[in-house]
Order: sequence, then C-alpha cells, then structure tokens
Amino acid sequence: MPLRGEVQVSGAKNSALPLLFATLLADGISEIHNIPELRDINTAVKLLSELGAETAREADSVRVDARQIQSIEASYDLVKTMRASVLVLGPLLARCGHARVSLPGGCAIGARPINLHLKGLEALGATITLDHGYVEATVDTLRGAKIYFDIPTVGGTENLLMAASLAEGETVLENAAREPEIVQLAEALNSMGAEIEGAGTAIIRIRGVEKLQPLNVQVIPDRIEAGTFMIAAAITGGDVLVHGAVQKHQEALISKMIEAGVKIAPEADGLRVIGPEKLAPVDIRTSVFPGFPTDMQAQFMALMTRAAGTSRISETVFENRFMHVCELQRMGADIQIDGHSAIIRGTEHLTGAPVMATDLRASASLILAGLAAENTTEVSRIYHLDRGYEKIEKKLAALGARIWREQE
Ligand code: UD1
Repeated sequence: MPLRGEVQVSGAKNSALPLLFATLLADGISEIHNIPELRDINTAVKLLSELGAETAREADSVRVDARQIQSIEASYDLVKTMRASVLVLGPLLARCGHARVSLPGGCAIGARPINLHLKGLEALGATITLDHGYVEATVDTLRGAKIYFDIPTVGGTENLLMAASLAEGETVLENAAREPEIVQLAEALNSMGAEIEGAGTAIIRIRGVEKLQPLNVQVIPDRIEAGTFMIAAAITGGDVLVHGAVQKHQEALISKMIEAGVKIAPEADGLRVIGPEKLAPVDIRTSVFPGFPTDMQAQFMALMTRAAGTSRISETVFENRFMHVCELQRMGADIQIDGHSAIIRGTEHLTGAPVMATDLRASASLILAGLAAENTTEVSRIYHLDRGYEKIEKKLAALGARIWREQE
C-alpha cells in the first residue's frame, strides 16, 4: 500500500550518544534537547548515572549534572549492550586522568575493534593496559599530538575530539571521519569553550583548553531514520514528506534513489519522496561519509529486491553485515552473496513471512520489505529496532501502513 503523508524525524541517536558523554567534560550541569526515546539512549543515561553524574529526563531533554564523577568504569554489562559506551574513554581520561572500560567484544556486524581509539589516546600520552577484558587508561597530563587514523573511524574521531579538547597544546587528527555527527560534536565542544577547526574535513585541529563549560545543545535530525522513511515511501510507490531530512546529509542516498527512478524534492524543512511505478536497479558501494552510509545498506537492499533488474550492493565498511539477506530470501527475494557483495535480482512479488531481526538496520530492512510484500510479515526480536528507531511502527501507521507491535 502506498504510504502518504508527512512524518517527523527524531533526533539522531549517533549524535545524541557522543553529546551525552561529552557532558562529562564539564564540571557543571548540561542540557541536551531533541533526544530520541531509544534503548541506546537509556543505556547511555544509565552509564552516566553509574559514573556518578545525576541525570534527569523531561520530554525530549536530558539534564546531566556532572559536577561529581564517582566512578571511572564502564562495565561489561553496559558495553556489551551498546558498543558506543566506549565513547566515555576520552571524556573520562580528560576529566579524571583515568578510565576503565570493558572491551566491547563480539558484535553482530563484524569484529569492530577499538584499536584506533586506543592508539590515538596513547599518542596523547595515555598509558593503556588490557586487564580481564577491560581497557585501563591512565594519564597525568594529556598532551596534544599529531594522530593519523588508518581508517576514518567515527567513534575514534569522537573519542579523540573529546580528549584533545582538554589536552595541553595542539592536536591534529588526520584522515578523520567527516560524518555530520562529528561536525555536531565539534560545534557542541566549541560552544563549551573548546577550540576545534576543520570538523567535516579529513583534517581536524584542536587547541586544548584548560576547562570546558557545560553544554546546552539541540541534537540534529537522524539521517538514518530519515533515509529509512525515504525508502519506505519509495518501496511502496508512495508520496511522503520527511520533515527533518537534511539534503546535505543525504547526498549519496538521494543520488542513488534518483538513479532508481524515485522523485525527491527539497521542501522547507525536509524532503518529499515520491516512489515510481517501477524501480530501476542501482549498484551501491558503502563507504565513509560523504559516501553511501553502511547504516542504509540493508534498507537499500530491501528497495532493490523490488527493482526491475539486477543490482549489486558492496559493503566495504563492516564485514559480515549481510545477515538480513537470509531473512529477505525467506520473503522471496533473490539475493546471492559474493564475498563482500550481494547480487540482487529484483522481483515483482515479495511474500510475507515470519522473519527475525538480527541487528538494528537489518530489522528496518525487514520492515521495509514487509511494507511491500503480499500478506503479513511478522518480524521478531524487534528489541534491535528499539535501539535506534523511535516509535517507528506508530510513524509508519500514521502514513497508512498496516503495522502494529505485538508482545514478544
Ligand atoms: C559509527 C556508528 C555506526 C556506523 C559506523 C560507520 C555510532 C554510535 N555508530 O560506529 O552506526 O555504522 O559509525 O558509519 O555513531 N575500526 C577499526 N579500528 C577502530 C575503530 C574502527 O578498525 O579502532 C574499523 C571498524 O571495524 C569499521 C570501520 O573502522 O570497519 C568504521 O568503524 P567506525 O567508524 O569506528 O564505526 P563506529 O564509530 O563504531
């Protein structure tokens, strides 16, 4: 059924998380607004509380009183439910000179090491040891340094931005990640008194300052949630205005959707997306921003299962990020894996089936396929979905989708 109407995108999970941890850098009370209601946000708030910060939530705002830090440890229980917990390493080291953070361990979408975070912090003078599954970092004084990232890592760049803001002297991050969430974090740190230049480019310069003021910031809209609604409109041949979709955050996705025959028109505070009668097959290759986001790969694959022809999707950021393939196949999709690529032969008919969500973005792709499939699709393990999509079933239902949540 074609989706029609307007939908509002929530605040970006991947921006809110580093901003929440950045509050640890200031001896005061910070406020973050436009925070989405998600399981990962709850985990982050819980972690801040465990560290001794006082947290309060009201509507979509979170207040963090970080005047007293009582613990420097992020436990295995929290880190294993959310890898982004490792983002407390930089702030704790800068504020307390000491941090103990569990290693994240296995992850459904590949190995996902944090070696580049650790190498960067070592370059700033930290001593890092591994002990019983925990990373222990200590330092007397962080000192600015030149750091080259072998891979432009989002989390690594964020950890280093936060640590270097309170280091002595200048830090230069080379081959830094350029995602919009990095730009927001750097702007937020600057509003706290940091001196950061170049965020959004591959070279970022940070002149360390002695002290940072508390933060008061509005989280940017979630570009992955926005992209997911854009695909929902396209896959159902609908017409949806996605409020909060920011064109400059979505250039790669927009180009590829246009290539597939989707109409996309910028409007005052969002993008209108009109799905075609027949989708054209399009090849994509994920890469770091401004390339095609790996976090949109599974959803784009759902779209391509409906294209009139064969497309190839190559995943270059994470290994093992094709777990949605088996589930899409259960719905009648014709997909073959060839190393790091998936070859998709589009079909007119997807059929509803019981399927299982394996990770956050995979669960979104199954919902998208379900919107386009005949009969009913039942997606289980939707706790993955609740990590990163705020009330997705309600938002889709308001656009005319027949979707509801059942007790698992
Ligand atoms: C962030 C996002 C995630 C997104 C990913 C890539 C958050 C909370 N999560 O994750 O949704 O899918 O960016 O856009 O913002 N790597 C190393 N060593 C390191 C760090 C990373 O080898 O120390 C590798 C990773 O294994 C991966 C690549 O670098 O292959 C990119 O990872 P990274 O950008 O760090 O992703 P995250 O910050 O974990």
